Amino acid sequence: AQRRKIDAALAPFSLSLDTLREVKNKMRTELEYGLKRETQASATVKMLPTYVCGTPDGTEKGKFLALDLGGTNFRVLLVKIRSGRRRSVQMYNKIFAIPLEIMQGTGEELFDHIVQCIADFLEYMGIKGARLPLGFTFSFPCRQASIDKEFDLDIVAVVNDTVGTMMTCGYEDPNCEIGLIAGTGSNVCYMEDMKNIEIVEGNEGKMCINTEWGGFGDNGCIDNIRTKYDKEVDEGSLNPGKQRYEKMTSGMYLGEIVRQILIDLTKQGLLFRGQISESLRKRGIFETKFLSQIESDRLALLQVRRILQQLGLDSTCDDSIIVKEVCGAVSKRAAQLCGAGLAAIVEKKRENRGVEHLQITVGVDGTLYKLHPHFSRVLRETVKELAPQCDVTFMLSEDGSGKGAALITAVAKRLHNIGQ
Ligand code: BG6
Repeated sequence: AQRRKIDAALAPFSLSLDTLREVKNKMRTELEYGLKRETQASATVKMLPTYVCGTPDGTEKGKFLALDLGGTNFRVLLVKIRSGRRRSVQMYNKIFAIPLEIMQGTGEELFDHIVQCIADFLEYMGIKGARLPLGFTFSFPCRQASIDKEFDLDIVAVVNDTVGTMMTCGYEDPNCEIGLIAGTGSNVCYMEDMKNIEIVEGNEGKMCINTEWGGFGDNGCIDNIRTKYDKEVDEGSLNPGKQRYEKMTSGMYLGEIVRQILIDLTKQGLLFRGQISESLRKRGIFETKFLSQIESDRLALLQVRRILQQLGLDSTCDDSIIVKEVCGAVSKRAAQLCGAGLAAIVEKKRENRGVEHLQITVGVDGTLYKLHPHFSRVLRETVKELAPQCDVTFMLSEDGSGKGAALITAVAKRLHNIGQ
């Protein structure tokens, strides 16, 4: 009876191939809505134009600055790119703290602080007063009117982290035209044909689109696969009703889904001797790194119990088996859903090119992809299953927000022949 109840709780997390195909098709529909003029304003997948019109071809060169504005820290980088036979990328960086009062202050104060940090860094590098092209990475959505709007500097590229990821891998592999982040958040960008981007003038060439696909499902189109646990996580989040797909696929929320299931199973008397501890009530206790550890096959159950202990959860051996099973169900579904989304993207690219078979590389970053023991494999298998005509290579990206930002600036400079 106990077994049956656990199976019943986890059953909605197991998605059939047909369901995953349906998710892929729905994603495809939403991608199209975001690109079309009439539907764009209300689209849930925003399909933001990035004004990045090419990937690296190896002829980029020069000195560039990159700014990476993450959580509490702020990084300034000097990136030296060489072309030709001595092709290389050299990077120097310095991390600056952003004091809380500035973080919570006005935009103007933040930008003043950033300018001060850049000046400090240039002095530290011995190139005080240099005016270099600059790429600025934000890892949050930002609608742009052009690549360099709103900055009073020579050239500034505003960079999304997915684009930085694609460009970093694009420097090594010209076939890389997709960037995927599977980490704290979930997002994808890809090179789209200009003629398909109705909201941007011009029909020639390509432009990178930041899909912001985390908003997929915000119109209810995947509510049929959302479980009561997903709804609880959504309702307890800072942005209820928003980013429904991201809440099922990204590191920031997977632990919360696990926690909701554990609470439910405990209430049913199936776990933790029926006692909901203080710790289990705490939001955010299951960080991605704990999920990754719990699911590691190399870990003995005793070690799983030790991790749970660290989180303040007293478990029996049976409990630890169930917890591991719950984590597995949640992360597998996340990887499959992410794979279904990615299958929609590669299929679209295949159709754009009008080829029977497409060879394409996806640049990937994010802790879920890099650290989780099964996520990347399940993701790859799902893409293969749902997009059999596409031969997809996954390439790990390093430092998309630093190196990638500099490369975006370098490509913009090459394409427009701007800067020094
Ligand atoms: C980093 C990239 O390595 O990975 C960032 O440089 C990106 O641009 C990040 O945002 C995503 O990973 P996570 O798991 O930290 O969200």
